Amino acid sequence: MTQTEQSWQWYDDNAGIYEELDPATLEFGRLLLDYADPVPGARLLDVGAGRGAVVRAALARGCLVTAGDAAPGMVARLRADFPTVAVSMLDAHRLAFPDACFDMVTAGFVIDLLSDPAVAVAEVRRVLRPGGVFALSVPGPLPHRGRWQWLVDLAQEFFPATVAEDRDGQTDVDVTGLLAAAGFTGLTRKDFEHPEPVSDPAALWDLFASRLPAAVSSGSVEWLPPDRAAEFHRRFLTGAEQMHANGGIAFDRHLTMYRALAPAA
Ligand SMILES: C[S@@+](CC[C@H](N)C(=O)[O-])C[C@H]1O[C@@H](n2cnc3c(N)ncnc32)[C@H](O)[C@@H]1O
Repeated sequence: MTQTEQSWQWYDDNAGIYEELDPATLEFGRLLLDYADPVPGARLLDVGAGRGAVVRAALARGCLVTAGDAAPGMVARLRADFPTVAVSMLDAHRLAFPDACFDMVTAGFVIDLLSDPAVAVAEVRRVLRPGGVFALSVPGPLPHRGRWQWLVDLAQEFFPATVAEDRDGQTDVDVTGLLAAAGFTGLTRKDFEHPEPVSDPAALWDLFASRLPAAVSSGSVEWLPPDRAAEFHRRFLTGAEQMHANGGIAFDRHLTMYRALAPAA
């Protein structure tokens, strides 16, 4: 399996539930499109469109939307859900479009997944007209990361194969450097926090029980032997109780958005 195949395989497996897993997905798509700020009628390409969070917002703004994804399951759903959009299978590293044919390219939470983001950014520049806009988002820093360490430790103990590394939730990709190297100008950036308050430990368990099994398809609680599953549940609630008593539970999400211009010809 190549790096590119790995980057979309999980999304293909979970295309049917992707937006349902995280209610913030649609809002993040809207935020990126607002930040991109297209004029009505703009020719917009959404790369790695997933279930269409950005596509939906772009249509609402009157854009002429083209969208694609490397996951066949996502592409099938995009075609069914957005019949007016030109949808195709695409690999962000090799965009099958002519030079300078879009006014705007968007990529929500895609660049950090790619095996060679510099190649993808150069492709975006190629398909943008001079002065065209590239707007993208990546997962942002987690300022309260330490408050969740109990859950990271617990997950690593019970699902070592799935939660193998601790990347602090933040992307390693140097977006600013990538955009500058590809010749983009006028770079701006914006951070956004989306707090999702959780009322009590039982509500946190419900939230994870609804999202965790699909999110960690090779290590869901349901797959544990019954005594281990009960032990996981007990220790999860203990950790959540401590967090609840120590400042409350908030399932904060963060994103960083970038907007840049393709150089004039
Ligand atoms: C985190 S999801 C984001 C989906 C959507 N942009 C959103 O904001 O909801 C990342 C998407 O990128 C797609 N993807 C991964 N690698 C890709 C590649 N090389 N080319 C195009 N799409 C890719 C995945 O299949 C997935 O749908």
